[in-house]
Order: sequence, then structure tokens, then C-alpha cells
Amino acid sequence: MSTFYITTPIYYPSDNLHIGHAYTTVAADAVARFKRLTGHDVWFLTGSDEHGQKIERTAAAHGETPASYVERIVAGFKELWARLEISYTDFIRTSEERHKRVVQDLFRRLYEQGDIYKAKYEGWYCTPCETFWLERQLQEGRCPDCGRPVELVQEESYFFRLSKYADRMLRHIEENPDFIWPPARRNEMINFIKAGLEDLAVSRTTFSWGIPVPFDPRHVIYVWIDALTNYISALGYGTEDDGLFRKYWPCDVHLVGKDIVRFHTIIWPILLMAAGIPLPKRVVGHGWLLLESGKMSKSKGNVVDPLVLCDKYGVDAVRYYLLRELPSGADCIYTEEALVKRINEDLANDFGNLLHRTATMVERYLGGEVAPPGPPEGPDRELMALAEEVPSRVAEHVDRVELAEALAAVWRLVGRANKYAEETAPWSLARDPGRRERLATVLYNLLESFRLATILVGPFMPGVPPRVWARLGIADRPELHTWESLRWGRLPAGVRVTKGEPLFPRIE
Ligand code: MSP
Repeated sequence: MSTFYITTPIYYPSDNLHIGHAYTTVAADAVARFKRLTGHDVWFLTGSDEHGQKIERTAAAHGETPASYVERIVAGFKELWARLEISYTDFIRTSEERHKRVVQDLFRRLYEQGDIYKAKYEGWYCTPCETFWLERQLQEGRCPDCGRPVELVQEESYFFRLSKYADRMLRHIEENPDFIWPPARRNEMINFIKAGLEDLAVSRTTFSWGIPVPFDPRHVIYVWIDALTNYISALGYGTEDDGLFRKYWPCDVHLVGKDIVRFHTIIWPILLMAAGIPLPKRVVGHGWLLLESGKMSKSKGNVVDPLVLCDKYGVDAVRYYLLRELPSGADCIYTEEALVKRINEDLANDFGNLLHRTATMVERYLGGEVAPPGPPEGPDRELMALAEEVPSRVAEHVDRVELAEALAAVWRLVGRANKYAEETAPWSLARDPGRRERLATVLYNLLESFRLATILVGPFMPGVPPRVWARLGIADRPELHTWESLRWGRLPAGVRVTKGEPLFPRIE
């Protein structure tokens, strides 16, 4: 069985997560579930990035130690992921011993081989971004990424020889067009490297909430070096117990927001290169969920809480909205109206109603029992051909983490099936006793289209398939829920269909 390793960024437990953070994790979850559906052995990692000056200061502002502060916030992360049905296989916390050991060993090894050295550092630091900048990189004296004020840092520091590996890194990006996705992000990174890479300060001495440099404990290891290493420490890299590393590395997809692509496509791979570890296959940078008023932030008091939305609209609807609304690589503006519109149009009208109207007719005209289809005629073949083609389209999109596009492909099938219902008008066929067989065929084709669409939406909305299988009378037929069963005509005659409550009630 082929393996598939996917990661989310590890989130800063400086505060509760909002709907933007939820996007990254829901997207990774959809990919992980899809890969399991298609027969892969999946490892899906998420976690928390607990060290650094920002967390230390936030905890102090709450009058707590960093350790007790993050404990509470991380517990909240796990509750949120449970609510959103995130199927991660492991949750790594950078405060865990299993992580610290690997970071320290790696740091020591790079020092011993001369890729890390000690020198004086003077430069600018953006604490919210935990990022060092050179004077020339600042924009009007502020952080070029987030626009917030930076602080002058003058300390003795360890440095990592990024510059030494710049050419090799550039070549890797140029020779592997899939390494950074989508292509616009790749071009940004190529330009960034071409502008010149400076060695990176990788330790700090002005605060203590971090992993100590093993041979010089006055220094703590720079939080991004600490954080990035989670992707291999969680697999036991460099320890006696490295079975997971040997099985799942190199990573298939690091899914990250566009703001942290640079860390994942320059610092991280260079760190791996220096350590002689194979590079991840792909880093995918997604866009941001914005508000009409701009960025979501605690200080603006405009964050959208995913738990509130789940209570109000249900988990599947929230997941669908997130995954359908953010086109690959681009930003989108969150509004509650857009969410309600997606629920009413895509989920209630197109998807839910296809099942509801079909099941109603099967109950009314066929006594609730699926009858065997007759020979195809009229638009039947077109519907079948589309139904057989859509799965591979969806799979191709998921491979590129184009989830909105993947869902759009499923909705082409749903839309075609709804149109088919209009074209074949089973309600008219039902009035003509001579057309029983045609009526049965049309209803069969509608149900079969719906079964296939349901298998395909499962990774995106995991709560949907079980409810559909119950209505289609195939809850106890797992062989009809699989990727392999995405073949037209597997739905057996004789199963009993019930219309039940609408899958997604309209919201007024
Ligand atoms: N701790 C680092 C990541 C280290 S990974 C080795 C970090 N954490 S974060 O909590 O600030 O952000 C985590 C992820 O959430 C990032 O991928 C970021 O892009 C994403 N998002 C934060 N706000 C977002 C939106 N409004 N919309 C979409 N994604 C957003 O960075």
C-alpha cells in the first residue's frame, strides 16, 4: 500500500483559533480522508508551536507561566479539531520531550559540521511573526510581512549557513516544478532567493521560553528552527524508534498558508539538505480568509469562531463552505451571507434536494423499493459517462490540493443529475402505466448518481455518507461505499429507500 504523509502547520497557542486557522486543518483533513479512500496508508500530523517570545509575553500578560497558559489553549485546539472531525493521526507539541531531543540533536550536529556558528547579531525582529529582518528589508521601518513595529536586537547568536545552500536550493526549486504550489508562490520564492540569502540567526538570549542550545544553554533555539523540525521529530527521526520516519518520510504535502511558504520552502529544505535528509515532495500555499474589514485579528476584535458557526450551521456545512469557497491559492472574503448562500444553494437545493425528490418518488411510485433499470436511452449515457469520469477529475484536483475545484467537479455531477430529472420527468412517466420500466430506470439512475456523489463528498463532509447510506438502504453494505465501487450500476435492485428529513434544511 503506498504511503501518504500530510501535515498542517503547528499553530501558535497564543490564542484560540479562528475560522482562518480552521481552514488549513480542514483542508488537510479532506486530503487525508480522500487519500485513505483511494487506498493510501496515510499519516496526518498537526500540533502546536509552543515556544518563543510571543507566547512568553502573552502568558505574562495573562499573569500565567507559559507552560500553564499553553496547556489551556492547546486543550482548546484539540476540542476544536474533534468538533470539526479532524482525523489526524498524531498531534505534536513542541514542548514534548520527544520533540526537544530531536531539535537539540539536529542543532548539535549542524554545529559540529560547521553549518551553525556563533557570531554577533544586530538586526530587527518582528515578534508577532517571530522573524528576523535586515534594515534594507523593512518597509517604512516596519515588518514587511505584517506591517507591525519591529525591535532592534543586538545579541550574540548562533547562525545557520543559509547562504551556503542558496544555489542548491534555487536549483531544486527550478528543477522540481511541483515542489512549491501553486506556481505564483513558486515565482515569489525564486525571486526571494535571487535577491540573496543571508545566514540566519538561529538562537536568542533575551528570553528563555524555548529549547536550550544543548552545548550553550544561555541560548534558546530560534522558534522557527524548533517548529519546522516537528515534521520529522513526530516521526521519531534520529532516534532508535524511527520506524515512522523510515516509512513516511519524505512528506508528500506540507499544507501551509501563504504567509509561511517562505519558511517551508527556503529555511526548512535547507535545514534538511544540511542534515542530509531528503526534501518534502511538495509545499502547498493556500490563500487567506479575510473579512470585508481586512484581516481577522484578536486586537481588532473581529475574529470568527468556528465553534459558533458549527453550533449554528452544523460541521459539514462549515467544512463545505470553507473548502468550496477558497479557490486554489487565492484569498476569499468571509461573510455569513456567503456561508448561508452555499448552504441553501449547493447543499439544500442541489445536493440534498436531489436525494429528497428522488426518494420521495421511489416511495410514492415504487413502494420504496429500487427496481432494476432497463436499457439506457435518451440522456442516460451522458449521465453515466459523466459519473464515471468525475472521480478521476476529483482525484487530480485533490492531488494538487485544489479542493474548491474538486468539489465543483462533484457538483457538475449533482447538477447534471438534477437536469436529468427535469429532462426525463419521472413524475410524468408515473402517470403512464405503460412506462413503468422507464420510470424505474430513471429513478435508478438518479439514485446511482447520488450514491457516487456521496462517496466523493465523504472526505469533505464526513457526516454526510452515513446519513445517505441509511436513506438508500445500504448502511450495512460497506462494499457500496468504497472508491472501488465508484462504478456505474453497483446499486442493487431491491434495496429500500426512505426519504427521511432533508439532509440540509434551508436556512431562512
Ligand atoms: N506557528 C507557525 C507555523 C509553524 S509550522 C512549522 C504559525 N502559526 S499560526 O498559528 O500563526 O498560523 C498557522 C496557519 O494558519 C498558517 O498556515 C496561517 O497561514 C494560517 N492562517 C492564519 N490566519 C489565516 C486566515 N485568516 N486565513 C487562512 N489561513 C490563516 O504560523
